[in-house]
Amino acid sequence: MTDDKSHNDSIISQFTKYAAPYRQFSEHSNQHGLELMLKLSKPQPNDVVLDVACGTGIVSCEFARFVSHVTGIDLTPAMIEQAKQTQQEKQLKNMTWMVGDVSKPLPFDDSLFSMVVTRYSLHHILEPKKVLQEMKRVCADNGKILVIDVTPDPAKVDAYNRVEKLRDPSHVRALTLAELENIMGEAGLANLEVEHQDLEVELEGMLQASCPSQDDANKVRLLFKEDLTKNNLGVRSHLKDNKIYFYFPISMVVGQKSP
Ligand SMILES: C[S@@+](CC[C@H](N)C(=O)[O-])C[C@H]1O[C@@H](n2cnc3c(N)ncnc32)[C@H](O)[C@@H]1O
Repeated sequence: MTDDKSHNDSIISQFTKYAAPYRQFSEHSNQHGLELMLKLSKPQPNDVVLDVACGTGIVSCEFARFVSHVTGIDLTPAMIEQAKQTQQEKQLKNMTWMVGDVSKPLPFDDSLFSMVVTRYSLHHILEPKKVLQEMKRVCADNGKILVIDVTPDPAKVDAYNRVEKLRDPSHVRALTLAELENIMGEAGLANLEVEHQDLEVELEGMLQASCPSQDDANKVRLLFKEDLTKNNLGVRSHLKDNKIYFYFPISMVVGQKSP
């Protein structure tokens, strides 16, 4: 059993080492994904948004173009430094950044935000339902909670989690879509709406931007080679120009906080 402190150390180690490559890895800013996110969540000019585990601020900055204000909070100071650079490049003014652990009670009053979002983070969290409950607490009545994450095929989720843990030791566990909808429902969110994106990524580029151990990177390469014919991982690995590509099965789920 991993304790909070050693897990947080692993997160900070991973995302300090890869803060700059994370922001530069183009698939993290995939335009189609960001458009789908906006279409589903429908941000309004008077919205006040919280981005939980905001990383390098890609999602925060996308929302800041359309809403009144965005606050981004993340555990890893190096990721927040990258977020500040993203904000500067995009010349956005309506943003605040904070370093903080979102698996603890969030440092905000009840009902402060009209929209609370989190992307690619729940698979790094030991108790994701607790984070969702806190996201709900700080969201206003009738406000929206948006969760975006990889949701593997239930028959292949264990194999997927094993390979992800080799690639990124701070990975905990990806949820299936049914599990994600379930914990959002249990956290009291209503009227769930879902969008999907199959996000195509090139394996070698992703390993360079995220895998700290050469031994583990080699194990991942072998598992993906095998996956080309077997599809054990549920990510439809395929070859293009002699390079291995695959699809992250991404789900976007928006729910409402009912009074
Ligand atoms: C895969 S990145 C996603 C970043 C960003 N949300 C995005 O969509 O690009 C995961 C982020 O979660 C952050 N994180 C993980 N556990 C956290 C925690 N307990 N509190 C705050 N941030 C956390 C990491 O520091 C990292 O920046």
